[in-house]
Amino acid sequence: MNQKEGQMMSAENRFITGLAMELRGICAATDDEAEILARVSPLLEHAAMSQAEWVEERMFETNREQGFGVHVLHEGPDRGLTIMTVNWLPQRGTPPHNHGTWAAVVGVVGDERNDFYQRVDDGSRAGHAELRRIGSRLFRPGEVVAMPSTTIHGVWNDSEAVTLSLHVYGRHPNYAGRSQFDLERGSETPFVIKFSD
Ligand SMILES: [Fe+2]
Repeated sequence: MNQKEGQMMSAENRFITGLAMELRGICAATDDEAEILARVSPLLEHAAMSQAEWVEERMFETNREQGFGVHVLHEGPDRGLTIMTVNWLPQRGTPPHNHGTWAAVVGVVGDERNDFYQRVDDGSRAGHAELRRIGSRLFRPGEVVAMPSTTIHGVWNDSEAVTLSLHVYGRHPNYAGRSQFDLERGSETPFVIKFSD
């Protein structure tokens, strides 16, 4: 471990450092997304149950412009495995988007609605996309949304209180070439998010 890594480790919460080590072990053992997600999900369920060990007040700092506040808890080398919290302002959410990698999310505080979409165009026109909604489900604290890289979803906080969830991505989502989709315009554009810290 070099000095920089040592400083990052010491600044990181012990529970999150342990979670990152377990996640790295899973990713080193297989490239199969279904297997990765099957093994990651119980770790995230455990993290939600153990929130007293790692949830901090700063994770509830919101971003009114964006509608959600993002705090990175761990970032692997080369923009790889990334752990972050996302809080959602009341009645706010995201447009439909993909992640450019596998992703898994567990609810921590409050309920978050996930709408799932399927792409129905052939992807041949750059910047154009047509989506069909194929499902919607409310995820409660402790419930995991496990998403292979083909998943397109939008998240919404229907409640009147800020919600919080813990997110794990196979790659840092701002460097994974992912997209957001505008259902009315039928457009696909890059989806880059802002971080609170
Ligand atoms: Fe997402």
